[in-house]
Amino acid sequence: MGKESRTLDGKTILVTGGAGFIGSNFIHFLLAKYPGIRIVNLDKLTYAGNLDNLSDVACDIRYEFIRGDIRDRELVRGILDHVQGVFHFAAETHVDRSILDAGEFVMTDVHGTYVLLEAVRQAPHVEFFLHVSTDEVYGSRDEGFFKETAPLNPSSPYSASKVGADRLAYAYHMTYGTPVMIVRPSNNYGPYQYPEKFIPLFITNALEDRPLPLYGKGANVRDWLHVEDNCRAIELVARRGALGQTYNIGANDERRNIEVARRIVKHLGKPRELIKFVPDRLGHDRRYAVDCRKIKALGWRCEVEFEDGLERTVHWYVQNESWWRKIKEKSAEYKAFYEAQYKDWK
Ligand code: NAD
Ligand code: TYD
Repeated sequence: MGKESRTLDGKTILVTGGAGFIGSNFIHFLLAKYPGIRIVNLDKLTYAGNLDNLSDVACDIRYEFIRGDIRDRELVRGILDHVQGVFHFAAETHVDRSILDAGEFVMTDVHGTYVLLEAVRQAPHVEFFLHVSTDEVYGSRDEGFFKETAPLNPSSPYSASKVGADRLAYAYHMTYGTPVMIVRPSNNYGPYQYPEKFIPLFITNALEDRPLPLYGKGANVRDWLHVEDNCRAIELVARRGALGQTYNIGANDERRNIEVARRIVKHLGKPRELIKFVPDRLGHDRRYAVDCRKIKALGWRCEVEFEDGLERTVHWYVQNESWWRKIKEKSAEYKAFYEAQYKDWK
């Protein structure tokens, strides 16, 4: 499908998980692009949800925030009576947390998606349900690229939960004709990413002159995608994607973790000695890599080069110290998690 098939302007759109990293970037993106859009942000505000990410749009009459759980059937049904499209971002997302305890991942990522799909099935005005999956559903591979048709082979409780949600969304399309589309983006980076994920953790630790805990030998490879490129891709799929189809999204610009860590300390003028090799993550996927020809055929191109995107991201965390300090200092849970995880090398 190469032509325009849907429009978002003039529509009311539900964004789940809009107070998180990608969701809040996506809301900014939609409000900037569509003067006539209305957005409902349904977010439970877990530890990862942060209304500071959206303080600049809080008073925009096109934007409404509802604090609630995607598993709340009545709430979700009520909202879906008034919307024409859904972007489903809400999830538990951190692999290390899923290794410590998989329960919330199953309950939110799988069961939460089920509740939404059931409600969409009974909501006649919803034209699309865009499910945000991940490239991690394919699992790891040493060389080559996964096409959308590749078997799914997840290896962490996080990615296994995302597979459950991804295939459930597909099954609702096949079984009930629910207007599902699925995207599988690679690792995102950029502003407003919670500082437990690799890039913001390393930037903020370096700014605090604390160690940067690099797992294993730092040889694992990720395909870093700037969140702006991801937002453009997701919005493009909503407009031009075909119902029932899945689209990989990746920059196809792979970097070893050690390289990323070194670039971060270099940008900040900090010593390389801050980088500390620590015991590897359990079941650590070596490499993710997706074939992006399908989304490129819709007209998408990655526009942010990694060197430039990383420099801008480092700059954003330097400029927005109060944003991340508040999270790091006020979250007792974050500290407990951090300390429990790294007790072996501290
Ligand atoms: P995030 O952890 O920053 O944000 C998740 C948001 O979901 C938070 O605001 C949280 O409060 C909300 N949430 C969690 N449980 C909820 C519930 N039960 N009801 C309502 N809201 C709930 O996540 P992110 O990095 O922005 O990722 C967004 C989506 O993109 C996720 O589905 C994730 O799997 C997917 N994804 C992320 C990446 C990445 O690199 N960050 C890459 C590929 C795919
Ligand atoms: P992460 O940001 O958790 O994303 P994902 O595991 O979903 O890809 O981690 C990115 C890479 O960085 C991954 O290979 C694990 C590694 N990593 C570290 O080396 N140290 C850390 O403290 C973290 C959080 C991640």
